[in-house]
Amino acid sequence: MATMQMSVRPEDLSQVSRGSERIPEAGILVIFGASGDLTKRKLLPALFHLEQAKLLPENFAIVGVARRALGDEFAAEMRAGIVEHGSVEVSDPKLNDFVERISYFPLNFDDPADYAGLKVELDRIDKEKSIGGGRLFYLATAPEFFAGIIENLGAQGMALPGQGKVAVVIEKPFGHDLESARELNRQVNAVFLEDQVFRIDHYLGKETVQNLLVFRFANGIFEPIWNRNYIDHVQITVAETLGVEGRGPFYEKAGALRDVVQNHVMQLLSLVALEPPSSFEADSVRREKLKVWRAIPSIPILNAVRGQYGPGMVDGQHVVGYRDEDRVNPESGAETYAAMRVEIENWRWAGVPFYLRAGKRLKKRATEINIQFKQPPLLIFDRLQTSGPCREIQPNLLTIRIQPDEGIALRFGAKVPTSADIAVCPVNMDFDYADAFGKSSANGYERLLLDAMLGDQTLFAHRDGVETTWALCMPILEAWAAKSPEVFPNYIAGSWGPECSDHLLERGGHAWRNNLGRKA
Ligand code: BG6
Repeated sequence: MATMQMSVRPEDLSQVSRGSERIPEAGILVIFGASGDLTKRKLLPALFHLEQAKLLPENFAIVGVARRALGDEFAAEMRAGIVEHGSVEVSDPKLNDFVERISYFPLNFDDPADYAGLKVELDRIDKEKSIGGGRLFYLATAPEFFAGIIENLGAQGMALPGQGKVAVVIEKPFGHDLESARELNRQVNAVFLEDQVFRIDHYLGKETVQNLLVFRFANGIFEPIWNRNYIDHVQITVAETLGVEGRGPFYEKAGALRDVVQNHVMQLLSLVALEPPSSFEADSVRREKLKVWRAIPSIPILNAVRGQYGPGMVDGQHVVGYRDEDRVNPESGAETYAAMRVEIENWRWAGVPFYLRAGKRLKKRATEINIQFKQPPLLIFDRLQTSGPCREIQPNLLTIRIQPDEGIALRFGAKVPTSADIAVCPVNMDFDYADAFGKSSANGYERLLLDAMLGDQTLFAHRDGVETTWALCMPILEAWAAKSPEVFPNYIAGSWGPECSDHLLERGGHAWRNNLGRKA
């Protein structure tokens, strides 16, 4: 398909808003579960990027907390993590000073005496660095420790704001089902006020996800056509080539629906479908998202399908099937693929199917939103070309590439110049982030960490939202738990998922768009 590039002129770049340049108040960031991968792969590189951008306060310390007995080697490990995962030069002059801010405190998550010790240590650092009481507790442990850590912080009086702000960031998964999510919310809100709580969904930190709101509401031309009158259907895909990456035991309990659909996919859905918020304030945006989820009627089990990958080839490499992954039950019924058809019963969307899918070990890594528009009411050019790539007039398609090849493309029909007859061929107007703004090394956590330090909850999940999205998934989770899948594995690693997923769309007269990505 022909492609037209859209680019930003250099003189425009100087006018591009650099976003918030507010600097948070002094504080200590306390990371529970700091010896895990997330800290060195994502959190510390993101914090260092903030340091490079001069967005961290001067009086700021990072304390890693975990069970392992570690000392200075923790800071050294974090330094290596920043270089490896943050595209940072080992000789970066800011690195030494930054690493000076990092220390480690060993703690048994369920031992109250250790929390008393932690409090003393934080007060000591606070005094030494003139911090003034600000604390951000980041829970990056396994989820079974969340409630205990929160209770212990409360018991030691560490949840109460003093002179400085105190807040807690909670990583996913937030609960295992509706009941456990409600229980966790009760435990969290028994200690912290809701405006101190930041439930992370790292998709909301992605530039392209935030750009969904900008695309819709900073441009006048899309809103009038963003509804059932013009849109035929919407597809949201989160496709990964990765398998479970050593997380077998976690995945056995989670599966694709809990791991990715209940949170990331539901967030994307809400941002595509929400009504214009009255402002970009946390309450306005979250309220509109909630209205979308609440307008989704219970999803009939027939409209959901699951899959599990068997062995196959991914990116030219042979890979084992899910049941042969490390610490996975050889007869496992966990789904590594989930897809569903969702309806949104409101005036904007009634009758427009939203197809959602997420899967591991698929053919290509691509998170994409495809919005297919209705055909013109009368196709006057439809019979002119009988063969070749342009033989059919294709409907307009808006593709929002969340990752990789971040960008937005609009497909439309154009006249082929050389043909004797009028032949119509699909072409793309394509905006590419990297071409326009340069490649970014940001991983999404920069924005979320900064917002949490600033106390801005816009890009975080609210308790009602978490519970509502769990409620939407529960009938499917329960039906799947009650009945073992008949034929698992049902897709080959490196394919586009199980056949039943194609049938799900065929029933609506649609087909998955599988040539994802820019070079599709
Ligand atoms: C995480 C899931 O939340 O998201 C992982 O637990 C998944 O299983 C990951 O691989 C996908 O995130 P990203 O940013 O790589 O699309």
